[in-house]
Amino acid sequence: MRSPPQIDYAIQTRIRQRSPKMRTIALYGTVAALITTALVLFSTQGGPAFASETYGRLHPPHSQPERQGPPVAHSQSHIGPSKLPWEFDHRRDGRRYGLSEDQCSLAFPELYKEVDRAVEYRRRVGNVTLEDLDVGWRGDGIVRAMIHDNQLYIIDPHGVWDHNHRPRTIATMHALNRALSAASEPLPDIEFTFTVHDDALPGPDNNHTTLAFSRLAQQESLWLMPDFGFWGWPDVGLRSYSELQTMLDQNEDDFLDKMPKLIWRGSLSVGSHDARAGLIEHSEDQSWSDVQTLDWSNKTDIDSKLLTMEDHCGYMFTAQTEGNTYSGRLKYLLNCHSILLSHELRWIEHFHHLLQPSGDEQNYVKLKRDFSDLPRKIKNLLKRSNLQEAEVIADNARRTFRERYLTPAAEACYWRALIRGWASVQGFKPQVWEESEAEDDWRGGKRSKNRMRGAPFESYAIMEQVEWNIPAKPRRVCIED
Ligand SMILES: *[C@@H]1O[C@H](CO)[C@@H](O)[C@H](O)[C@H]1NC(C)=O
Ligand SMILES: *[C@@H]1O[C@H](CO)[C@@H](O)[C@H](O)[C@H]1NC(C)=O
Ligand SMILES: *[C@@H]1O[C@H](CO)[C@@H](O)[C@H](O)[C@H]1NC(C)=O
Repeated sequence: MRSPPQIDYAIQTRIRQRSPKMRTIALYGTVAALITTALVLFSTQGGPAFASETYGRLHPPHSQPERQGPPVAHSQSHIGPSKLPWEFDHRRDGRRYGLSEDQCSLAFPELYKEVDRAVEYRRRVGNVTLEDLDVGWRGDGIVRAMIHDNQLYIIDPHGVWDHNHRPRTIATMHALNRALSAASEPLPDIEFTFTVHDDALPGPDNNHTTLAFSRLAQQESLWLMPDFGFWGWPDVGLRSYSELQTMLDQNEDDFLDKMPKLIWRGSLSVGSHDARAGLIEHSEDQSWSDVQTLDWSNKTDIDSKLLTMEDHCGYMFTAQTEGNTYSGRLKYLLNCHSILLSHELRWIEHFHHLLQPSGDEQNYVKLKRDFSDLPRKIKNLLKRSNLQEAEVIADNARRTFRERYLTPAAEACYWRALIRGWASVQGFKPQVWEESEAEDDWRGGKRSKNRMRGAPFESYAIMEQVEWNIPAKPRRVCIED
């Protein structure tokens, strides 16, 4: 067994190593966090979602969606230039989970590439079948679910109760349900499975069909869904994705005021050991480096070195490395107004195609997998004359990710596009009803009623079971102190 993946990622609430630069952040983090969160939530989100003065007048659009590649007739792509006089404003709309399909297209024209790809693949190999939905091929960490009338039903949660799968599963269901319950338009009925494993398709020639957080390029049968971290990752100190954005808006330093160093924390005991070991080797004893390994079995080590994600954003440069497979911290690091340095990533998440290593729109710095070009590139970036120019990379990243494609609003749009994309190649009609046992009716005869399959998410969220006796047994979650 590999070690539980969530412990690779150095995101924690404790702050031990404080530099003078970090003092403000620490102060805010500990004193003003709650107050600012509440204030910002309610003051920047103001205004009704579809204020009539900005929505509904048939003006020509301010900007038209520019979608690259040929038009594809599913997910969002079929929607041409919209007549809506509406533009996405991340301050106003970034946390609006219920944007319409038109608005999702206008706001995030490049978001749906992975949905389009998975649909194209299915068109090639044939529609999704009911047999594809069997969860038996995966030992645990997989859920069969259904959407009917915009409502989420859990049909078969399969081995999702351990410390690793449980938080991921719950987070994923809630995020999906948030996208569903915020939807203002009807969505097609679908039945599907999703897995919360880092590596969705272990073993060679495994081409099962399921929703997953990440895939390798050749794993074409997978459908990428937003990672559980878009909800929250409390087990490593990331209480809520949306809260992180709020905190950064409030507390983040100007780029040129940040610590001019490269930050990285992580364990070497992961699948992508080679990349991480390269980073350690090529940053050792460098004045520009704050790269440190963590030993998760050593509490003293963790207490002294772990940093929060906000702390990471206090540095000019952040390093990204793959972990056992993909690394869940990338979406957080891309929220920093900092320059991300990463080796070429083998594992794909739904937004990776938006990473640009060169050109006017460059939004990160690409390095060799062994990080051997790190010292040269970072010294170059750090030259006083280059630093202001390099800031453009951080600006581009913030504009593309934090302020657009990695907003909570975009996440919800993506979920709904995924549902529509899946439905377009679903080769069966989901069976919503099943017959219950016959009951006596008042005429003295027998009568069976239809009931819905599985458990509605509303009750699954509480019971974490699809069936339970009534009165229900109290459920215990053991928390060790
Ligand atoms: C899986 O691979 C088999 C054999 O190559 C192929 O017939 C089938 O279409 C593939 N299924 C999917 C979902 O990719
Ligand atoms: C635990 O971590 C501390 C701080 O990094 C270190 O000084 C100590 O040697 C470590 N102990 C073990 C047993 O590795
Ligand atoms: C595939 O599924 C779609 C959506 O249900 C349906 O419209 C289409 O006819 C199916 N194609 C085939 C070849 O069965």
